[in-house]
Amino acid sequence: MTPSSVDHSAPKSPMASEAVMADLMMPHQANGLRRPSVFGGVIMSMVDKCAALSAMRHAAGQATTLSIDRILFKEPIHVGELVEVRSRVVHVGHTSMSVLANVYAENIATGERRHTNECWLTFVHLDQAGKPAAVPPLRLETDEDRTLHAQAARRREALLAERG
Ligand SMILES: CC(C)(COP(=O)(O)OP(=O)(O)OC[C@H]1O[C@@H](n2cnc3c(N)ncnc32)[C@H](O)[C@@H]1OP(=O)(O)O)[C@@H](O)C(=O)NCCC(=O)NCCS
Repeated sequence: MTPSSVDHSAPKSPMASEAVMADLMMPHQANGLRRPSVFGGVIMSMVDKCAALSAMRHAAGQATTLSIDRILFKEPIHVGELVEVRSRVVHVGHTSMSVLANVYAENIATGERRHTNECWLTFVHLDQAGKPAAVPPLRLETDEDRTLHAQAARRREALLAERG
């Protein structure tokens, strides 16, 4: 199938929107702590970019960040470690998409890999005029898909309730 013949309104699985970004942490990315670790904003930027890729993949078009609902820094990441972000769309509304991003840090020398962060984000698909536009349905395929979908639905309800 050529790209132009892809049906962009057809349901897509969460795995179809999976995005991966990796970067080796360098000294200029450290914070100013007495025992420096990687600045949180570096990780947040990677998470936002990777999650945006997932949203754009699912929507097959542009998407903007509506909210970064929560980012939990479970443990520090050190300079010299490889950071990998993995994200996918886990719930969709009409124009919005909930994306779950997980962050892993790898000590290259030892091969030790830690799950250091989890983040939930919401994106809105925009049409050519920059207006919110409908996204394809999500096709849930696995038990994990269904569990994450239910979690994201509860988060969306809470966000909408906050909005009033
Ligand atoms: C994202 C944006 C286009 C949405 O505009 P809007 O006028 O709220 O649009 P709508 O009311 O049509 O809502 C769009 C979707 O967002 C959802 N939404 C809006 N406000 C929300 C909130 N506070 N919490 C959760 N979802 C919300 C709506 O439910 C709707 O989703 P649905 O269609 O799946 O039900 C607008 O808020 C915006 O441009 N924000 C700035 C984005 C930005 O600059 N991001 C950083 C750079 S990428």
